[in-house]
This record gives sequence, structure tokens and C-alpha cells, in this order.
Amino acid sequence: MQSSNITFHEGKVTQGDRNRLLGQKGLVVWLTGLSASGKSTIAVEAEKVLLGMGKVVYRLDGDNVRFGLNSDLGFSERDRFENIRRIAEVCALFQDAGIIVLASFISPLCTMRQLAREKARGSFLEVYVKADLLTCMKRDPKGLYEKARKGEIKNFTGISAPYEEPQNPELVLNTERDSLEDCVSQLVEKILEKSTSHTVDNRGNEKNTTPCL
Ligand code: ADX
Repeated sequence: MQSSNITFHEGKVTQGDRNRLLGQKGLVVWLTGLSASGKSTIAVEAEKVLLGMGKVVYRLDGDNVRFGLNSDLGFSERDRFENIRRIAEVCALFQDAGIIVLASFISPLCTMRQLAREKARGSFLEVYVKADLLTCMKRDPKGLYEKARKGEIKNFTGISAPYEEPQNPELVLNTERDSLEDCVSQLVEKILEKSTSHTVDNRGNEKNTTPCL
């Protein structure tokens, strides 16, 4: 923390007030996986389904966020950490606002995902969008694997930069085995299950959170 002489200012509206107004609780749904594993495609469809169910939902996507908020960052390990740190903070704000946020980022290291989990203080689902490297290389929708293999892109995840598989995610979506429709319904089901597993007292505050280890 660089700033000193700062004081946190409490408001008069609580998270519980917002939850009651919206009729839902905020949740960070963190989709991790290799480039071309299907994270963004699944998030786009799930957002539509959830909105159709009357949920307030918002999508944050790796490529998109790098056009704006994180346009100053590249793909070194240090920049990726900063990318995820900022996104994790933004997700925590959405969560506090009562919104279901679908965050699709490669987030290649366990420590990065752990940071996002800690910021969301229990209202977090880690979803591993699983497809092996060869499959992603075959899909290669943006032609990036081809460029990375030729050495035209440095630090490319899976080729010249690491991807650590999640050890204990709340959900694994296997996009090689299951159709897009199946993956989306598994995800939506998990999100609805998580939102109802929280008990809320009569002031709209959470009493229990499902432990996410
Ligand atoms: S993360 O590693 O910092 O979490 P993020 O999800 O924001 O990555 O961005 C990944 C997207 O950036 C990929 O889907 C791909 O389109 C693009 N990209 C460009 N360069 C790289 C690279 N070196 N490694 C991985 N993805 C890259």
C-alpha cells in the first residue's frame, strides 16, 4: 500500500440492503483455463441464461479488460499478476454490489486464483474450463498458438509460459467431452446451488458461507 493518511469511510447502505433490493447475492465465478479452452464462449452463454432467469450478471473477459483497465499490461509473470490483482479487486466490488460476475481469465498460477478467492471472501466459485493443450492448439481460433510455436509471441501460456491446473476447483467443465450446452447448464446449476446455499438473515446479511478450499 503506497498511501498513508487514509481512512475507510463506512456508508449507511449495507451489502444486505443491496442484496434485498436485487433479490440476490453477489458471487464471483472465476473461469480459468488455457487460451481456446472455451472460457469466454461458456461465459457469454451463461450470462444470457442467467439474465433470462432475472439475475443481475456481468461478464469480465481477459481480452476485453486488456483493451481498457489493463491496457498498460503485457504477459510477463509480473504483469499477469497485476492483471489478476486488479481484476480480483473489480470482481470483489461487483460481488459487494450484489452482482454475479463471470470472470474469464487464463490466470495461469494457483496463487493468482487464490488471490481472487481471498478478495471475494467466500462468495467464489473456481471453475476449471478443461481442454488439453493439443486440443486448444488444434482449435486455435485466433491463430495465436501457431504464432507462439513460431516464436512470434513470447510467454505464451502452454507453449512458453506455465499453466498450473487447479487442484481443488468447485467445478470442472470438460469442453472436449461435453457440448457447449451441457457445460453452460452445469455452470448455471452450480451458480444457482451456490446462491441458495447461503443463508441470509432478516437484515439481508449472510449467516453461513459454503467453505471454498
Ligand atoms: S492472464 O494470463 O493474464 O490471465 P488473460 O486472460 O488476461 O491472461 O488474457 C489472455 C488472452 O490474451 C488470450 O486468450 C489471448 O487471446 C491473448 N494473449 C495474447 N498474448 C498472450 C500470451 N502470451 N499468453 C496467453 N494469452 C495471450
